Amino acid sequence: MSVVKVGLLGLGTVGGGVVKTIRAQQEKLSARLGRRIEIVKALVRDTRKQRAVQVEPSLLTTRFADVLESDVDIVVEVMGGVEPTYDYVRALIQKGCHVVTANKELLAKRGAELVELANRHGVHLAYEASVAGGIPILGVLRQFLRTNDIAEVRGILNGTTNFILSQMEEAQLPYADVLKRAQELGYAEADPRADVEGWDALYKLYILAQLVFGESLPLSAIERQGIADLSQGHIRLAKELGYRIKLLAQARREDGGLHLSVRPTLVPLGHPLARIRDAYNAVQVEGSLVGDLLFTGKGAGELPTASAVVEDLAFLLTQPFTPHPAWRERPTAVPSSRLSSGL
Ligand code: NDP
Ligand code: HSE
Repeated sequence: MSVVKVGLLGLGTVGGGVVKTIRAQQEKLSARLGRRIEIVKALVRDTRKQRAVQVEPSLLTTRFADVLESDVDIVVEVMGGVEPTYDYVRALIQKGCHVVTANKELLAKRGAELVELANRHGVHLAYEASVAGGIPILGVLRQFLRTNDIAEVRGILNGTTNFILSQMEEAQLPYADVLKRAQELGYAEADPRADVEGWDALYKLYILAQLVFGESLPLSAIERQGIADLSQGHIRLAKELGYRIKLLAQARREDGGLHLSVRPTLVPLGHPLARIRDAYNAVQVEGSLVGDLLFTGKGAGELPTASAVVEDLAFLLTQPFTPHPAWRERPTAVPSSRLSSGL
């Protein structure tokens, strides 16, 4: 049986999950693809570090050139950040390599250029894992949008902050302790300020808007507020008044323009989004034909995220290349004062 050579950029929480998933599902994947998936190189910062997954020491390298020169068919980018990641992904695409990434920051900041480059070189750029972890939301919406229009998408897009808010309410643990636990569980970003300040949800919302509306806003035009200033007192008071505080991401097309925001929001206790607990995510859309839809599932963590990465890997190995719609930005947002009331 022939082999698909895969390179990994990063072997941390998600990269380790990808190795475990390929090993666990190898038989099923080989039967479906008619080829065996083999990881031939993994770029890391420190080859001597103890890892949650054991790999042949010869697979590990700290030199990107080793990945570039190892004749890989596909690279899975799970190292995070924009620099040097952008340069690496760019070089791989230019070499004709397909890329699967979970990196929402990279996509939100440099996605338009990467999409254009991948189209020019006729390679796949796949990124299901970048939004809502294990929920296969991008694939489902892509299919759904063939028939339905969507005027608004909203949801809980960050597992770490939802975990923090849930645990502060249910276990009455202090913010700092719960954040530490979210880091231990592999939910948080390398710099957890990206989670608690709302950046991570903002990047995901940007990507969702590109898919749902065919355009987004510049990151600086997206309203953003995080949860770092919320205390147990706020959470308790909200509950007494019949609400739960959620870090809600909302993107709406109205008045011919777009409005995107990420902010702590009072959600009525009876609303389905108020029931999303721990590191779960949720995405709610209203389809013009179907009406209200809600997708929920694990939004962060090793295996849920690896599931989305490996789905992409399997998908692109069975699909011919088709150009990806170009990513566009509208220069300004519709002012929130002109929007009809939300939740
Ligand atoms: P980790 O910090 O656990 O892993 C990062 C990996 O990349 C490590 O193996 C690290 O090497 C390697 N790495 C980082 N920078 C460099 C560099 N400059 N050169 C070489 N190697 C480097 O991150 P995660 O696995 O949690 O996240 C990876 C990506 O997936 C991020 O973009 C994140 O936003 C995204 N993601 C994460 C999810 C999660 O639940 N954790 C969910 C969805 C997306 P070393 O091990 O030697 O330090
Ligand atoms: N830090 C992110 C979160 C990982 O907590 O949602 C998943 O994208």
